[in-house]
Amino acid sequence: MKEIPVHSIGLNEPDFIANPYPELAELRRELPVFYDPGYDRIFFNLHADISDLLRDKRFGRGMLHRYSREELGWPPPDPRLAPFRRFQDNVFMDMEGTAHTRLRGLVSKVFTPRQVESLREKLEATTNALIDAVPQHEPFNFVSEIAEPLPVAMIADLLGIPEPIRPYLRPWSSAIVRMYEMNYTDEDVENANQAADAFMETVLELAAERRAQPQDDLISLLSTAEVDGSRLTDTELAATSIFLLNAGHEATVNGSSLGLLALLRNEAALTQLKEAMAAGEADALLKTGVNELLRFDTPLPMFERYALEDMEFNGYELKRGQEVALMYVSGNRDEARFPNPNELDLTRKDNPLLTFGLGTHYCVGAPLARLELQTVFRILLERMPGLKLVGEPQFTEGFVIRGLRELLISS
Ligand code: HEM
Repeated sequence: MKEIPVHSIGLNEPDFIANPYPELAELRRELPVFYDPGYDRIFFNLHADISDLLRDKRFGRGMLHRYSREELGWPPPDPRLAPFRRFQDNVFMDMEGTAHTRLRGLVSKVFTPRQVESLREKLEATTNALIDAVPQHEPFNFVSEIAEPLPVAMIADLLGIPEPIRPYLRPWSSAIVRMYEMNYTDEDVENANQAADAFMETVLELAAERRAQPQDDLISLLSTAEVDGSRLTDTELAATSIFLLNAGHEATVNGSSLGLLALLRNEAALTQLKEAMAAGEADALLKTGVNELLRFDTPLPMFERYALEDMEFNGYELKRGQEVALMYVSGNRDEARFPNPNELDLTRKDNPLLTFGLGTHYCVGAPLARLELQTVFRILLERMPGLKLVGEPQFTEGFVIRGLRELLISS
């Protein structure tokens, strides 16, 4: 068996959040797998280990589909988190086995590349309207003016969220996703509980309306669909809708902001894209280019799994219940898998990026996210060919959901 050395990693250090890549390169060389006692997790940093682990059925996002809390020696759930848990315990991303397949199957139907393609016109119109509203030749914050409102509008449309409720979506979602960070506070718990309650009640009311009068939207589909002969419960329905609203925009906001930052910092790539646009070849370049931007800087850097049994995995001994942290952000720059990993190459074709995960939990929304990013970069550069960065971008505080709060740009 290979030894697993002990090491402490400062995930929430601002410098690490802004640029984790030099430290990760060193870890890949010196400590590709290590145990951090502070987080009580084994960290995996290599592309090969992460891809193997994501395909290995001996790991799961949860354990409770296999064992009871008593069997695992886990304490009862923290009662302070009850409102948040009413939501989170029904999120299918955290389920395994048939419970997961049942809900994922239903949702996947709406996010096929063909379904998503039908959103192109709406996406273009929304992007254009957002650009119409920003000042010409004056700095504006790309994150708040374009990156946030665009995916929120798209996913809210898909689900069928009425206009008056839309302004609440982003604050509710932000409060809920704070709980996914490794350093949430009591105040975060209170905010997440309030947001989860308000969000659940709102979606339940909407679902009741749609059951009575179905429309052409995802909430109607979820409220009327039967899976394996049974309907979703109200809680499942509300939690699935909210999860889609959150998953459908949080990472996309960060993916488009970090992607644009990477483009604006890489003169050669930016020029190449502008030349492709002038030659009418932007779509082809943006297809590989958006994947590359999402590899180059990873908006959701780390996901976790549990070892479901005692095992040997790639030569390491793991005990049942051990949590492992998979550093997608490191795998995406692994020199053993990507030639010149620190180079932004918009034409990169052999690009097995880990940004959307792999295996049974592979991102359902990847086709939508890709189309959103392709559209926003293309229209932005068409309409603002002199686009430039103004000042230093400001990162948000969390590492688990990593992104920018401010990216000032000017046409
Ligand atoms: C750039 C944007 C996005 C990124 C980087 C991203 C990333 C990911 C990742 C890494 C996972 C797997 C988590 C794991 O391995 O444990 C995932 C799952 C998921 N994503 Fe995304 N995502 C994005 C956009 C979207 C969008 C637009 C939607 C649309 C609704 C979406 C819906 C989902 C869902 C439903 C799952 C759960 C899949 C399952 O557990 O079966 N995502 N996403």
